[in-house]
Formats: sequence, C-alpha cells, structure tokens
Amino acid sequence: MDLPPVGLGTMGIEDAAVINTAIDCGYRHLDTAQIYDNEGVVGAGIAAADTGRADLTVATKLWVDALGASAVRPGTEASLDRLGLDAVDLLYVHRPRGDYDPDTTLPAVEAVREAGLTEHVGLSNFEPDQLTVARDHLDEIAAHQVEFHPLYWRESLLTDAQAHGYPLVAYSPLAGGRVFEEPTIIDIAETHDTTPAAVSIAWVTSYDNVVTIPKASSRGHLEANLAAADLELTDAEIARIEAIEREEELFPE
Ligand SMILES: NC(=O)c1ccc[n+]([C@@H]2O[C@H](COP(=O)([O-])OP(=O)(O)OC[C@H]3O[C@@H](n4cnc5c(N)ncnc54)[C@H](OP(=O)(O)O)[C@@H]3O)[C@@H](O)[C@H]2O)c1
Repeated sequence: MDLPPVGLGTMGIEDAAVINTAIDCGYRHLDTAQIYDNEGVVGAGIAAADTGRADLTVATKLWVDALGASAVRPGTEASLDRLGLDAVDLLYVHRPRGDYDPDTTLPAVEAVREAGLTEHVGLSNFEPDQLTVARDHLDEIAAHQVEFHPLYWRESLLTDAQAHGYPLVAYSPLAGGRVFEEPTIIDIAETHDTTPAAVSIAWVTSYDNVVTIPKASSRGHLEANLAAADLELTDAEIARIEAIEREEELFPE
C-alpha cells in the first residue's frame, strides 16, 4: 500500500468536525477501529468533507470478538454501515487474540476482501512468528500497525516490514504525550527550533517503510504533525533517540 507519511489516528475523537478539519488540512489516511466506538463520527467527517472518497484511505479494525469465522463478515458490514461507506481501503485484525485463529479468521477476512468490502487486509500487534503464519493464509499483508515511538519500538517488526515490503504503521508516535518530557527529545527540538512532537514524528518517519498516525484534535496540532514529516534529523540525532533507555510500552497485551 502507498500510505502518506502522516495520517490521522482517531482514537478518542468524538467530534466529526475534527475529522473534517483534518481532511481540510490535507490528511488523506484516516485510522479508526470498532473498539474506538467512533466509526460513525469518522464517517460523518468524511461525508461532510470536500475531498472525494477516492482520495482518502480509510482504515478500520476488527476487534477480538469479531474474529470468529462466522463473525468477520457481519462485523465488517456493521463497521461499513457505521462509516456510511461501501468499502474500506484497509481492514485490520486489531489483535491476534480473543477469537483469533489464523486457520479460520484469516480465510474469512480474505473472503471479505474478495467480496469487495475492503481493498486490503492489514494486521496489528502481531509478533514476527505470527506474521509468518499469517502470510501463509493471506494474499498479502498490506500493512502492519504497531506501537512505535521513541520510548518503545521493536526492531524485529521494522525488519519484517522492510524485508517483505509493506508499510509499518506506527501508532502512538508521541507516546500519548510522554515524549514531551524526554530530555533527549527536548534537546534535539531546541536545536531545530521546533517541538518535541515534531521531533518524534520526524524520527518515526525517518525509517524506510514506516508511516505514522498521530492523534490530534486542534487545527494547530493537526497542521504541525503533518509538517513534521518534512523535518530532517541527522544520523547522529536518530542514533541518540534510538539510544534512549527509558522504555514505556503503552499498549501491552
Ligand atoms: N492498533 C492499535 O492497537 C492501536 C493502539 C493505540 C493507538 N492506535 C492508533 O494510534 C493513534 C495515535 O495514538 P494515541 O492516540 O495513543 O497517541 P499519540 O498520537 O502518541 O498522542 C496523542 C496525544 O498527543 C497530543 N498531540 C497531538 N499532536 C500534538 C502536538 N503537535 N503537540 C502537542 N500535543 C499533541 C494529542 O492532543 P490533542 O488531541 O489535544 O491534539 C493527544 O493527547 C490512535 O488514535 C489510534 O488510531 C492504535
């Protein structure tokens, strides 16, 4: 899949006007999920936008209780109904747990893709060995969405994405705000006369195959995050961020 460097994470967005503003700012990749309980909000924002549906990449995720073989299709249809769309561009398996069984879940998701309810199938929060198993059941892994920010990232997942040529979609690139207090990030931000948020987004998107989906609510944050992908960090700055020892995984199993 060809995804822009910065898309919009929508977890916690309850106002369609934010989605509409994001599209107006230039966001073209919108990420929601059944568990965020806001597919209707995202759909309303899309419906109110001047930008045509064909220019948007809309992603949603099947929650762990919608991964049984007979639940995948009705679950997907319910998501589309809430979004007000005929199809999404990217349908993820949100987490490989609950009703997830690669032998039954993934063929059901493939069938949904073949029926035209999604253009692509993605995975989220998989381990490398689970990606290997999934590859046997899917036409392709179109994207893998994982936690990835200066305080938590997994080199093995980056390597898998680069080796197999799919985008790694980095979620929580700001660690939900925790990077704002990190001295190394603050120091590099001061060097570039910018913010810790911009440095974190620039660091995440500095890797081949990595795109990101920060969540933001105000026009100011939305615009700043889009622009952050243009900030170029030096190899030494990238290495300093890689060397940060503080580790904070926000969304463990
Ligand atoms: N697949 C999964 O299992 C999974 C799990 C978690 C998250 N995600 C996805 O990843 C997205 C983002 O992750 P996240 O929401 O956890 O956290 P995040 O994007 O790391 O951080 C969002 C927080 O940072 C603030 N912020 C955004 N831009 C800013 C800026 N330029 N300056 C200062 N503050 C800024 C936001 O405030 P305002 O809202 O006030 O702007 C919000 O409080 C989610 O919305 C979701 O789509 C996926």
